[in-house]
Amino acid sequence: MNTLTFHGHSAFQLTTAAGKSLWFDPWLDGNPAADISTADVKQADFILVSHGHGDHFGDVIKLAQKTNATVLATYEIVGFCESKGVKHGHGMSIGGGYTFPFGYAKLTPALHGPGVDGADGLVSTTPNGWWVDLGDARLYHAGDTALTMDLQLLQGRVDVALLPIGDNFTMGPEDAARAVEMIKPRVVIPMHYNTFDVIKQDPADFKRRVGSNAEVVILKPGESYEF
Ligand code: NI
Ligand code: MN
Repeated sequence: MNTLTFHGHSAFQLTTAAGKSLWFDPWLDGNPAADISTADVKQADFILVSHGHGDHFGDVIKLAQKTNATVLATYEIVGFCESKGVKHGHGMSIGGGYTFPFGYAKLTPALHGPGVDGADGLVSTTPNGWWVDLGDARLYHAGDTALTMDLQLLQGRVDVALLPIGDNFTMGPEDAARAVEMIKPRVVIPMHYNTFDVIKQDPADFKRRVGSNAEVVILKPGESYEF
C-alpha cells in the first residue's frame, strides 16, 4: 500500500509500501495552502521537482539540505541545486526515466514556463511532469502543464493522476476533465487551485465534469489517499 498525502498547492508526500518517502514539489514555507512547514518534515528520501517556479521549487533546496534527500529534476535544475550546496542530485531530461530504489521514474513533458526561482535569468529546459511506476501502481504528477495532445501518450498507463485545475497558470477544470478523457486514469486528484484568488476553483465542479470517466478524490491539505 502506498500513502499519498496532499500538503497544499502541488505539494504531495508519498510513502511507498517499502517505506521510502518521496516529496513532489515541496513548497511549504510561505505556501498559504500548506498544512505543515519544512520544520515539520521528518523524512525525505527523494524530492521530485516539476519545474523551477517558486510555488513548486520553493523549498526543494532547504528540504534537501535538512533531510539529505536526493533531488530528482531536469539536469539544469539539479545543477542549480548542487551549486547551492545540495549534495545528492540526479539530473534527467524530458522523456528519460531511471530505476530508483522506489521504482521507475520518468520525466514527462509539460507545456509551461521555464524560469528558475531565485536565479536571475536562469531557465531550465521544458518543465515536466513525473510518471512513476512503483511496481504495484503507477502515479502521474502533471506539474503545471497545459492541456496538450502529449497527454494521450499516458493513456492506460496511469492508476492515480494528479492534475492541476486552477486555470490561469495551468489547465482549468474543463481542460483537466479533457485530460482525464485522454489519460483514462483510475483515480484523479485535483491540485494547484485555491492557493491564490487568481486560481480559485470549485473541485466539485471538476468532479462533475469528469463524471464517470474516473474516480475524483478531493483532498484537503493534510489528507491522504491510499492505493
Ligand atoms: Ni509554474
Ligand atoms: Mn505553479
